[in-house]
Amino acid sequence: MTSQVTPYAIGTALQRLDGRSKVTGTAPYAFERVVDNATYLHPVQATIALGQITAIDTAEAEALDGVITILTHVNAPRLASTEDRELAVLQTDRVSFRGQLIGAVIADTPETARQAAGLVRISYAQWPHEAELSSERSDLYTPEAVNPSFPADTDEGDVDTAMSAAPVTLDTTYTTPLEYNNPMEPHTTVALWNDHELTLYDSTQGAHTVRTTVAPVIGLDPERIHVSAPHVGGGFGSKGIPHAHIVLAALAARTVEGRPVKFALTRQQMFSLAGHRTPTIQRVRLAADTDGRLSALAHDVVEWTSKVKEFAEQTAVPSRNVYAAPNRRTSHRLAALDVPVPSWMRAPGECPGMFGPEVAVDEMALKCGIDPVEFRARNEPDVDPETGKPFSSRHLVECLREGADRFGWHHRDPTPASRTERGWLVGTGVASSIYPTLRAVSTATIRVEAADHYRVDIGATDIGTGTWTALTQIAADALEVPVGHVDLRIGETAQPEASVAGGSTGNATWGTAIVEAARALQDTHGRPPEIGAEASGTTPNNPETERFAMFAHGAQFAEVRVHADTGEIRVPRMLGVFAAGRIINPRTAHSQFIGGMTMGLSMALHEVGVLDTRFGHVVNHDFAEYHIPTNADVGDIDATWIDEDDPYVNPMGAKGIGEIGIVGAAAAIANAAHHATGIRLRELPITPDALL
Ligand code: MOS
Repeated sequence: MTSQVTPYAIGTALQRLDGRSKVTGTAPYAFERVVDNATYLHPVQATIALGQITAIDTAEAEALDGVITILTHVNAPRLASTEDRELAVLQTDRVSFRGQLIGAVIADTPETARQAAGLVRISYAQWPHEAELSSERSDLYTPEAVNPSFPADTDEGDVDTAMSAAPVTLDTTYTTPLEYNNPMEPHTTVALWNDHELTLYDSTQGAHTVRTTVAPVIGLDPERIHVSAPHVGGGFGSKGIPHAHIVLAALAARTVEGRPVKFALTRQQMFSLAGHRTPTIQRVRLAADTDGRLSALAHDVVEWTSKVKEFAEQTAVPSRNVYAAPNRRTSHRLAALDVPVPSWMRAPGECPGMFGPEVAVDEMALKCGIDPVEFRARNEPDVDPETGKPFSSRHLVECLREGADRFGWHHRDPTPASRTERGWLVGTGVASSIYPTLRAVSTATIRVEAADHYRVDIGATDIGTGTWTALTQIAADALEVPVGHVDLRIGETAQPEASVAGGSTGNATWGTAIVEAARALQDTHGRPPEIGAEASGTTPNNPETERFAMFAHGAQFAEVRVHADTGEIRVPRMLGVFAAGRIINPRTAHSQFIGGMTMGLSMALHEVGVLDTRFGHVVNHDFAEYHIPTNADVGDIDATWIDEDDPYVNPMGAKGIGEIGIVGAAAAIANAAHHATGIRLRELPITPDALL
């Protein structure tokens, strides 16, 4: 057991400490940084999916007043490493996807830069490209591993034999579409190159990640790169891995050395440059006895990656841990296409990967004549089915049962299409959620500023999640002082190295480092430590991971109304019940949960990137046509949690919560839509035409 922090500030609904500066517009976001003598960058993007640049004519663009310089592969500084092909901008005449960065105009104003970029004439030799995903492709391959390092395939027992022996079976295919991260703040960076030092005010999920990724690409010692990201307007994974625009900004800054370069991607540019979620095709096979006990569970996934760089979404991975079944199989097959590079999008893997199986489980429950909540409870494993280790804590069934009570599940007539209210078909649905409890490595320092007043430094990031507040609470409890006695500083590479805000690892990782630093301070300097005393702490390896499987769990409930005449679909009610260890701050945690659930609603009903395969181009690359929910689309959405005491995960007993809210939400809605209408929806998003 890890020695636990006594919760005092932890568990209180402290208001966001950064709230006032955000709502008064004084919180410094990257693009708003006040810098002297700024220049502005507007990129030139490829208009073909595959080929070669044969000629570039910049004469007209250069003639514009206020244009400082135009960079292309012909004149751009050479990079030190082109190994990461996503980041190797302007190094060759090769075009590998439509929207690729192939030039940059740097000008005195953003308007001039944009106008000039439109005047750069590019000629191409175009080659035939491939942008169509199908499970019939002959070039599907097995990746060496899936994100981040899971085996691509697993196989235990004999699924085929179990399928032929079982009285109830299901063999069905589900699809999720191409989806795009759309944080409110676009990807922005302000780059200043001065005497072999590069400063980046960047909208990122990890200041140190930007430094360590960019350093070898541009050939600077990491210590000479300074990244600042105290406030970030969302990322959902798209700012977790640095993308090519940061390198372009750095090259531009080097070219106009001494003058800052401001670069904000437009919403449209984000659709080719900020990553995306691969479309997925998921074959799910289930076998069960008539009591609804699963004897086989197979999840075989086909998805895409880019020829530029592989990103293999771990879509089938959650199927390895959710339900007991003696015969299990998972696989991932990829098509490498001439498309932009996919990347993390909130709960990569778990989010799409809990759609197919959670709809399949609903179908099986119905086939067996068993309530879907009860069906899931019957397949609750005693230990993690994948590793055989016990769970450090697991309350999935409790989440399902408590959710069912709170939601009013038991009044439901299980017969599909059995309830109509004034022309609306009404149904309810459920799904499970699961997300791994992981942690990375970070370092924190604590310094005694005055009697009982502490400054805490760690290069963590707050992407809107509440890090400023939650880490202050953790530090206060670790130091046994009120929160007002803690001065937390985050978001800078000048601070001790911290891990990326990703994989729902933030609080667990950074909080553990802070607790370690507080303990070191007290062990070395006594209690209370004298003014000026300082200590640091680093997240240690957690030996308990050898003994336990660690996951957060949840249950998602949704009510759906479908208009009998028009197929219009509405979700008046959603409830999530989660078990995620100790909740550090109920206010920010509630926001995280319902934010994830809202994004799940978005996945269920709205989001789809429409790719015109002839051009390798997403035609709906803006908010007018790539739909996300408005307030009017979101009904009564609530999340709650059950108290879970987990002494093994970290000194706070807290599991990550940034991603689990989205997991399973779309399946609950699809299952509710089936209950309302009797129409089984196996393809996202669910649109009215599918319900008529
Ligand atoms: Mo999250 S998609 O791991 O930033």
